[in-house]
Amino acid sequence: MEKITLRVNSRDVEVLVEPSWTLLYVLREVLDLTGVKPGCHTGDCGACKVIIDGEAVNSCLVRAVHVQGKSIETVEGLAQDGRLHPLQQAFIDCGAVQCGYCTPGMLMSAKSLLDKNPAPTEEEIKEALGNNYCRCTGYYKIVEAIQLAAARMREVGAE
Ligand code: FES
Ligand code: FES
Repeated sequence: MEKITLRVNSRDVEVLVEPSWTLLYVLREVLDLTGVKPGCHTGDCGACKVIIDGEAVNSCLVRAVHVQGKSIETVEGLAQDGRLHPLQQAFIDCGAVQCGYCTPGMLMSAKSLLDKNPAPTEEEIKEALGNNYCRCTGYYKIVEAIQLAAARMREVGAE
């Protein structure tokens, strides 16, 4: 076992890990951040997506020991001061959540996109979600929710 420090949702946490453990495993099983969902474990479904230094990344493909010193964001860090992130609120308002299993990964891909591009086109949103699978919604409401969140965030930014 090796002691490492991870920066997760703006907090430094020390964890004991095996070098082979994935970030997905450490987030869920060591840090109890179970919003990060396991799916395929092969980088194909996007359920385990987190943001690492601004980029949406499949945490099942990353070893925890390799992301020391990087900023890791999970869905648990989205709400602030008891208020949902605009993306979370828009997903609810648009009915973009059905079983919810894909939702944390979708939210993290969407946040990474909006952090870099506050006014994405529909095509850009679809491209950002290209590695996120949803078995329930047909994607339309998810794209709509991201457009709504982007518009609301631009309005707040313009105030
Ligand atoms: S569990 Fe990581 S991409 Fe599917
Ligand atoms: S809401 Fe069920 S997989 Fe997307």
